[in-house]
Amino acid sequence: MTVMTRKTAAHAPLPATRDSLIRRYHALLSGDERGTRQWLAALLAQVSVEADDLPATPDQLDAWSAAHATAVAQAHAQYLEQRRQGGPRRYFANRSQALWFLQQVAPTKAVDGAWLHASLRHWQDPRFHGLIRTYLEELGEGDPRCNHVLIYQRLLSRLGCLETPALDDQRYLQGAVQLALGCCGDDFLPEVIGYNLGYEQPPLHLLITTHELAELGIDGHYFQLHVTIDNAAIGHASKAIRAVQQLCPAHDPEVFYRRVRHGYRLNDLGLDTPSLIGRFDLDAELLAALERKRAFGQFMHADRCRVQQRTVNQWLAEPGALPAFLQALQSQGWIRRGQNPSDSRWWSLIDGPHAPMFGVFSAYEKQLWHDWIAADWQQPIRPVLPGSWQAAPMPGYEGEASEACMDTLITRMAGNRHALPEGLQATRAYLRATGLAQEGPH
Ligand SMILES: [Fe+2]
Ligand SMILES: [Fe+2]
Repeated sequence: MTVMTRKTAAHAPLPATRDSLIRRYHALLSGDERGTRQWLAALLAQVSVEADDLPATPDQLDAWSAAHATAVAQAHAQYLEQRRQGGPRRYFANRSQALWFLQQVAPTKAVDGAWLHASLRHWQDPRFHGLIRTYLEELGEGDPRCNHVLIYQRLLSRLGCLETPALDDQRYLQGAVQLALGCCGDDFLPEVIGYNLGYEQPPLHLLITTHELAELGIDGHYFQLHVTIDNAAIGHASKAIRAVQQLCPAHDPEVFYRRVRHGYRLNDLGLDTPSLIGRFDLDAELLAALERKRAFGQFMHADRCRVQQRTVNQWLAEPGALPAFLQALQSQGWIRRGQNPSDSRWWSLIDGPHAPMFGVFSAYEKQLWHDWIAADWQQPIRPVLPGSWQAAPMPGYEGEASEACMDTLITRMAGNRHALPEGLQATRAYLRATGLAQEGPH
């Protein structure tokens, strides 16, 4: 069997849409669901003619998943061996590329789990408990330290990447699909189950990403967490298979499974992860960051700040002059590329609390400067110790209303709201009201 198509293989062509994806994504985030059902139906019609790698019947899914897990494990062992023999990182040439990637996938990560929202209403039906448990775990069971959306936001915040620059419209596709499945889940249940089946099988790129982020000194807890929680033995991946099998109706199982397949294929819409990472262009990113500063910076410098007879204000006032400005900084000796950035005078202007330009560049933008200046110069690796992220146990939540109306609770637990304080509280109340709170070992 080949390794699953999901997020690892060539991607399906992008859906034709008159509405921009970013607009749809933000509308869904704000609770505006108009036209969502039709949009989802159109996407499903589009993927209905695509291929996938699912087995012919649901009872073969266990073997299929096991084979996938084995293939991923072998490919991962091969990767580790290459690295052990001194091979370079496969994904991230430098820290900038990793930070860029984390921002590119932020719209999807901001709605992690959203596609499963409609499962919450079925808490009295045990066949749904695997899906509900998966969703509750995405929500961290209402503990802000474990809520996947919040874990990712804190990661971006620590890395100075909260202010994400405008992203390509396609970066909003998967997030919009997830929110759409969440809000139309009652009408598209087989498709939700199929989407979940694809999304929850741990892919190779997750393992490599986790490895390389740690190597670059970036806390990969969010990714490490998904390696463990989505595991195919008892984790989200196996719960996803159980949901297909248990909810497959006795009459018309073919129709149900066909719809599961279509939902599964939605995972392949858009760019797969390795191709996305490969799109990073350090020069272009640095120039884009500088371009964003140009409008603000062109009046901010004293006239004594000169580079090659021109004031910095003059350089910044002229559209298209930034590549020449970078060249001038090098010719004047402000920047020495291919060396430790701290050897460059320019770096001392932008880095450190007493630097004259302190605060002008975000942590991400400074990383761009750093990696652009360093070029082939290798800096020592400073890996993050595994386990350094682990949270202390959460105290109980006694004292909150337990008789709260289920409908209100479920509404507050939607993909666009669960990470807000009210949503976290609703999640905890839901766990108590349904008796689904996970017990620890006694
Ligand atoms: Fe997650
Ligand atoms: Fe998961």
